[in-house]
Amino acid sequence: MALSFFTKNKKALLARCRDDYQTKMRLKYAPWYHSMEAQKGTTVRLAGKEMIMLSSNDYLGLSFHPKVVEAGRAALLKWGTSTTGARTSNGTRTYHLELEEKLADFLGREACHISVAGYLACMSSVASFAQKGDVILADKNIHSCLWDGIRLSVATVERFSHNSPDDLRNVIAAVSPDTPKMLVIEGVYSMEGHIARLPELSEIAEEHGCFTVLDDAHGFGVLGRQGRGTVDHFGLNDKVDVICGSMSKSLASTGGFVASSKDVIEYLRSHSKQTIFSAAISPSQAACAQASLEIMQTEPDHLDRLWANTRKYRAILKSLGLDTWESETPAVPIVLGSKERVYPFWKALLDKGVFTVMSIAPGVPVGKDLIRTAISAMHTDEQLEKIADAMAYALKKL
Ligand SMILES: Cc1ncc(COP(=O)(O)O)c(C=O)c1O
Repeated sequence: MALSFFTKNKKALLARCRDDYQTKMRLKYAPWYHSMEAQKGTTVRLAGKEMIMLSSNDYLGLSFHPKVVEAGRAALLKWGTSTTGARTSNGTRTYHLELEEKLADFLGREACHISVAGYLACMSSVASFAQKGDVILADKNIHSCLWDGIRLSVATVERFSHNSPDDLRNVIAAVSPDTPKMLVIEGVYSMEGHIARLPELSEIAEEHGCFTVLDDAHGFGVLGRQGRGTVDHFGLNDKVDVICGSMSKSLASTGGFVASSKDVIEYLRSHSKQTIFSAAISPSQAACAQASLEIMQTEPDHLDRLWANTRKYRAILKSLGLDTWESETPAVPIVLGSKERVYPFWKALLDKGVFTVMSIAPGVPVGKDLIRTAISAMHTDEQLEKIADAMAYALKKL
């Protein structure tokens, strides 16, 4: 007893965990890690109360689509629960290759590789290709998985102002023409809902021989023909080298993908630690994503409804004078500027039966503390009316 007390006190890392301010605040105010007891579409039950889900990334609302659910069930029965192995060793199945081919086709690419998480796929899209001595030009507001990929690559990183071709031009001008370069951007920025200024950014990248990686986790399913994403939206398929993304949003599954030329994907399969040493995605995950991909191409109503709902929702927020950071997509932030304003707003929405997510600095730039909301094709007009009432109430509470 005395000995364990002594060793506990000596372990600095245990003390760090025990005394961490951020964790103490999180546990005190409990804004995250809510456990829902039930879900049906955009309705969830939390602490016995029915709520409207307003922060899911189920943009097309396919997570309860009968065809998607059935595909997952059938795959589970046919293939079991897991491959229990990495793709490199015992984990590759025909359904992986089938989904990769379909995704590659849809995105107008030669090849594709799927991973167990969007986070891993996007991280490996950077880490597998860039190396020490290279320069990575990164938009300041890219997702954490891309920053992790940058760190892992050990390349030199130069940041440019968010979505600013002018700043990219300035920053890139200072890099030696002989240095191998990579541009890392998102198609649709997850917090801001901004669409990348791809025509200008890709033109600069081309001029300077930059390999371009675009994370389209929030553009896929939302923009472009049948939801082909940001690159298709601009018709710039030949200007972006790698499109990576997530299957946990419009594809209503989990997992991630990297799509590119055959050479690039085969290089990734040789060099990506996230691929070589991580288990393959499970049968039901892959089957759900594949079913959603088919629905995107055969049932256009989901995309139409998503945009109709987005327009209605934006009009509601605009009429209340809320700051949506000029979001152009169904990912709509409500910028409140400080955590002292975000918390009561978020809590008031919760009290009124609307579930949203708080995002505070350093997760977002200082002064941009916000409530992240996202619209789904599944939201009903009745739900949008309730959301409007809840927003008005939360605003009054401020
Ligand atoms: C821009 C972006 N990239 C990648 C990811 C990671 O995807 P996943 O949650 O499927 O791992 C996310 C998820 O939030 C994201 O927003």
